[in-house]
Amino acid sequence: MAKMAASVVETGEDAFRKIFKLYKRRNPPPDFSDVIDFSECVTTDKVVPVKLDPAAVSDGDAAKVGLRPVKDWKAFNLQGYPGFIFITNPFLRGSQLFWVRQCLKTYPQKPNVCNLDMHMSPIDTQDIWDKSVPNLSSPSVGKTEPRTLLERLRWVTLGYHYNWNSKTYSASHSTPFPTELHLLSYQIATACGFPGFIAEAGILNYYKSDSSLGIHVDESELDHSRPLLSFSFGQSAIFLLGGTHRQDTPTAMYMHSGDLMVMSGQSRLFYHAVPRIVPTHQKVEALESDRCGWHSGWQGGAVVERVSEEDWAVCARYIHSSRINMTVRQVLGQGQNFPETPPRPGHPEERQEDDEDRMKRRRKSDSFNINNT
Ligand code: OGA
Ligand code: MN
Repeated sequence: MAKMAASVVETGEDAFRKIFKLYKRRNPPPDFSDVIDFSECVTTDKVVPVKLDPAAVSDGDAAKVGLRPVKDWKAFNLQGYPGFIFITNPFLRGSQLFWVRQCLKTYPQKPNVCNLDMHMSPIDTQDIWDKSVPNLSSPSVGKTEPRTLLERLRWVTLGYHYNWNSKTYSASHSTPFPTELHLLSYQIATACGFPGFIAEAGILNYYKSDSSLGIHVDESELDHSRPLLSFSFGQSAIFLLGGTHRQDTPTAMYMHSGDLMVMSGQSRLFYHAVPRIVPTHQKVEALESDRCGWHSGWQGGAVVERVSEEDWAVCARYIHSSRINMTVRQVLGQGQNFPETPPRPGHPEERQEDDEDRMKRRRKSDSFNINNT
């Protein structure tokens, strides 16, 4: 038995990694027939529809953040994954655009932190949107080297800024969390049975068509009883959800634009990854035609604002080939504080992952989150 475990570590071929590599493979492409598609609404022995409390959030409060009435949401549990909730696109027609615009135009701005800050001066990473818009690559040119800052954006952190090296948050590195994103998260958490959620940290991931996100557990938050919310916009993704061990075979599912996941309970600490982005022209077209929803039916009076034609044209072009993922986390429990003495540099606190795993992942990801093949 011990020998087996050692050979798994040596080759890095645990059950999760095997499935990850399978879905990441380009040639030949994998068989996608086992990937769960919640939007197809088929109840199987694994997919269990779940009724959320429609009275937990008023229709008016939901609309203010761009969400449909909770009674209209389609939510699911997954057999064997306690606390995992998948909600297929609960957004009102047209409101996804606002959140995409926030992710591309607003959230990359200072004082938020992004991958470009790791090797560029604050002056150079100011006004990413304004500097990029006139020079965005033409979509018809095909695969070219990303020239603009917006095309080179890989991650943004909000609130308590995640430290990718120490894998910790700290009181000393924090900026105000965007109010509207807190409100969106608060309403969703409330609808899912987690009243009083406080959005304290956000990690936004920007994926190109050939990007992937390595196998990991989100355990840096100090209170794991609080849910983690994950939003998907633009191109679709294959998401793998495993268990507490790398040997647990993960379940593959699609995340389409507007879909959201709530990771709570036991599944809050399950391994997961995004091995592949999958093109969904149909979904993006749906988003584009959603633009009309603004003119006809939108009531306003809300956190979600109308997106200008010019901004929308840029966002539409971006998500035509890319995916944006927002994860929102509450870091501290009620009344909780960061430990008095922060971990010494180079001595991050103990992690579930073993050293070898960690080294491999670091090398591969160059300390950034997203890998591009
Ligand atoms: C993360 C994460 C998943 C995704 O940022 O921690 O797991 O769907 N993201 O991009
Ligand atoms: Mn994660």
